[in-house]
Amino acid sequence: MTACIVGWSHGKFGKLDGETSESLIVKAATEAIAHAGIEPKDVDVIYVGNMNGGFVRQEFHSSLALQAHPDLRFKPSTRVENACATGSAAIHMGLNTLAAGKARFVLVVGVEKMTELNSAQAGEVLIKASYVAEEANIEAGFAGIFGKITSAYFQRYGDKSDALAKIAVKAHKNGAKNPYAHFQKEFAYEFCRTPSDKNPFVAGPLKRTDCSPVTDGAAAVILTDVTTALGMKQAIAFRAAEQVNDFLPMSKRDIIKFEGPALAWKKALASARLDLLDLSFVESHDCFTSAELIEYEAMGLANPGEGERAIHEGWVERDGKLPVNVSGGLKAKGHPVGATGVSMHVMTAMQLSGTAPGALQLPKARIGGVFNMGGAAVANYVSILEPLR
Ligand code: COA
Repeated sequence: MTACIVGWSHGKFGKLDGETSESLIVKAATEAIAHAGIEPKDVDVIYVGNMNGGFVRQEFHSSLALQAHPDLRFKPSTRVENACATGSAAIHMGLNTLAAGKARFVLVVGVEKMTELNSAQAGEVLIKASYVAEEANIEAGFAGIFGKITSAYFQRYGDKSDALAKIAVKAHKNGAKNPYAHFQKEFAYEFCRTPSDKNPFVAGPLKRTDCSPVTDGAAAVILTDVTTALGMKQAIAFRAAEQVNDFLPMSKRDIIKFEGPALAWKKALASARLDLLDLSFVESHDCFTSAELIEYEAMGLANPGEGERAIHEGWVERDGKLPVNVSGGLKAKGHPVGATGVSMHVMTAMQLSGTAPGALQLPKARIGGVFNMGGAAVANYVSILEPLR
């Protein structure tokens, strides 16, 4: 263990009219600093995770964090970007900075303000995280990329629409317990399973209820070294933090294998000296329900083509052998891209410190896994977290 999360904040995710990326960053930074019990002047280095300035006119975001307090002026602050894994990328940059001895306290803020655009316009921005030379003309934005992946999976292993609908139902059931979630209501299985006016096909076999929504939001963490963390109010340690990048073009990979995510999981579990089922829960990157299905296989919970067993047999439910996305995941909590990876770490830190609000708290949360993915299994980050003491 080399570093810990010692403070965090998480705003409500959703369509946040009246907020700007600036107001979201300032609020998240202020609350995380206060939660850690440090002073703004104690922050040495700042990373701001923001995926794509294309959602708003303000593209240069790093120094907006300084507006949380005058004592942050002149602190080094850098925007980090790695598609939908931007939040984890920013956290991992913070870990590297600590490991290099360049800071004692690092503030990491993840933010995205997406809803100033409609869904189609947001899709145009998001598709820039594909291999544009070959993939940008796929219809329906990034949903089109996962529509293609889902069709390929169905062709090889059969139609898994039942499993996808159940994954959506699980996400919304969990999200209904999460006061930070974009959607806090349950969706019936029949509604998710059956195409309708309210649940139309979006791309390939993916319906609206298979997609994460277009969401605004921010979250933040304070990182420090283990020695310092021992004297802090709360400390959640990184038992592993691994990044694996794969080729960007889907044409260079067997896209339904998710080899990058699988390697990231393998490396993280090896470095933590754990088996997957030693984890109490996992927050996984369900940008689409089919992504979660394939991730069951990539993390080693099910064999290739058998990911559906994890949902059909209840393994990934809140009370299953490996609960996945008890927060509601990207599907119900929302996916404000730059904030998502930070949000996953905050949700995990809350569970592990026993401070998740109300019914969201799991009864037994000892070790948590986070898998955050940029692009279609391209930039892959796994963190394994546990309480320091
Ligand atoms: N899941 C469930 N319900 C959703 C939803 C989603 N993802 N997105 C929107 N809705 C609901 C809205 O709340 C609204 O409900 P209401 O009529 O009861 O008020 C209704 O559907 C229509 O909302 P609207 O925003 O007009 O839907 P849309 O068809 O324009 O957008 C998607 C839906 C799925 C196309 C859009 O959310 C999307 O593009 N998601 C993918 C984003 C993405 O690619 N992220 C990056 C992943 S890597």
